[in-house]
Amino acid sequence: MTYSDTDSPAAPTPDPAAPQSLAQRGDNRSHRPTNQAFRDFIGSGWGPRPDALPARNDAAPWAAARRERLGVLFPGDRLVIPAGGLVTRNNDCDYRFRPHSAFAHLAGTGTDFEPDAALVLEPLGTAGADGSSATDRADDGTDTAAAAPTHEAVLYFRPRASRTSEEFYADTRYGELWVGQRPSLEEVEAATGIRCAHIDSLPDALAKDAGPDGVQLRVVAQADAAVTALVNRVRTAAGLAAGPEAQQVDDALAEATSELRLTKDPWEVDQLQRAVDATRAGFDDLIRSLPRATEHRRGERVLEGAFGARAREEGNGLGYETIAAAGNHANTLHWINNDGAVHPGELVLVDAGVEVDSLYTADVTRTIPVDGRFTAPQRRVYQAVLDAADAAFARAGMPGCRFRDVHTAAMEVIAARLEEWGMLPDGVTAADSLGPDGQFHRRWMVHGTSHHLGLDVHDCAQARREMSMDAQLRPGMVFTIEPGLYFRADDLLVPEELRGIGVRIEDDVVVDPDGGVRRLTQAIPRTADEVEAWVSGLIG
Ligand code: GLY
Ligand code: MN
Ligand code: MN
Repeated sequence: MTYSDTDSPAAPTPDPAAPQSLAQRGDNRSHRPTNQAFRDFIGSGWGPRPDALPARNDAAPWAAARRERLGVLFPGDRLVIPAGGLVTRNNDCDYRFRPHSAFAHLAGTGTDFEPDAALVLEPLGTAGADGSSATDRADDGTDTAAAAPTHEAVLYFRPRASRTSEEFYADTRYGELWVGQRPSLEEVEAATGIRCAHIDSLPDALAKDAGPDGVQLRVVAQADAAVTALVNRVRTAAGLAAGPEAQQVDDALAEATSELRLTKDPWEVDQLQRAVDATRAGFDDLIRSLPRATEHRRGERVLEGAFGARAREEGNGLGYETIAAAGNHANTLHWINNDGAVHPGELVLVDAGVEVDSLYTADVTRTIPVDGRFTAPQRRVYQAVLDAADAAFARAGMPGCRFRDVHTAAMEVIAARLEEWGMLPDGVTAADSLGPDGQFHRRWMVHGTSHHLGLDVHDCAQARREMSMDAQLRPGMVFTIEPGLYFRADDLLVPEELRGIGVRIEDDVVVDPDGGVRRLTQAIPRTADEVEAWVSGLIG
């Protein structure tokens, strides 16, 4: 969307004889009436709108606490967190809208709220930045909210227009006849507990008191190019550094919104559990579709479709593209073509997660024998990966464990097994391989063992290293443990009987308030015996 300093003039009535620009030609499919009699007619005769305001979102108090924790880091600064706009898929078709995760986290809103919205944390008290930045925080990330709030949140969006407006019937992006009932400012205020204002007032609100001796602006610059451009125009007009010169200022905000999500509050953990439970149901459906998959030339698509249907039924959809990789395809780490056949006797590696309506996602991998039984070589590889996963989980539960230690524990098992199987280079032990000049075992598992999980499948991606990889595990952290072994069919260093086998086991883990770790995925079968029983229980 674009912002202008003045209200847009009413669109002139098109001259049918004037040459059409390319952009206008998309309207040639039909002629929408614009005569006043029609406008009066379509704007009348509708029943009343519901007059009860919606109930407060259950996420609202949690989101308010998150905003307070963010505000404390930037006293005196105006913080702009855009929801993002619609993204074009092709021509005039957009992808389904999904707000930026920082916005969803801080506004406490989920699905479908609201393209082009922006959350602004307006500084309270004496205006004026004090020069503090996110990097002034305590290194353990344990900031607590100030006693007095530092900011007031204001949510800017385009509320629904009246039914007598042209927008109502003619605007394919905002019109209620096109996109369904849209909210009023009062309704969103009731649902979120955040003061709401019309998006058209955003430019003036951003400019108010901005300047070197006044308010400094920070924006999550990646969320919406149009809002970032607006912020930069406001900065330039106010004599503030803008564009690349403001990058550090903006990066500090993006970093802080990412680090704020390193620990999840109890409401978020509950949402993640719901996502995992829906994912379990999706895996059940996928297993039920195995017989049909083996008969279809693109059986992997049958599996993908079975999971995807459940993801849409139970949640917003997929948290990321499903990997349904049969046989040797499991050894292509990001196999999302899913256009291969599924043969009895093979394994199928499925990495899939449901994103629930609050936009939190699960991230689960199970490796399943297509005909319900592991062969001996498949079981050997599977057990090695399972042992690595168990070792990583046990390490995560030890006091003082750092995020990176979880990976180390998994690698110790992987390297030991590869040494046992004679796969490390001549004269190299597992201990040698684990050293910085070795790492030969990583040929067969080039990805990491863990990542944070939340609103993004790879959550907290802008967090500083010392706050993530190098940090100790803390209550509220949610992360994956996902070791694997990938033996490509054409890998001559792999014993012949293991070639073409790829296994990953991925669980989602939470650190509880007492520091213990717990698998959110514990109800999803994991061991080879459990997986066999799972398949036979569902398809005999
Ligand atoms: N599904 C993406 C990942 O496991 O990281
Ligand atoms: Mn993962
Ligand atoms: Mn995954």
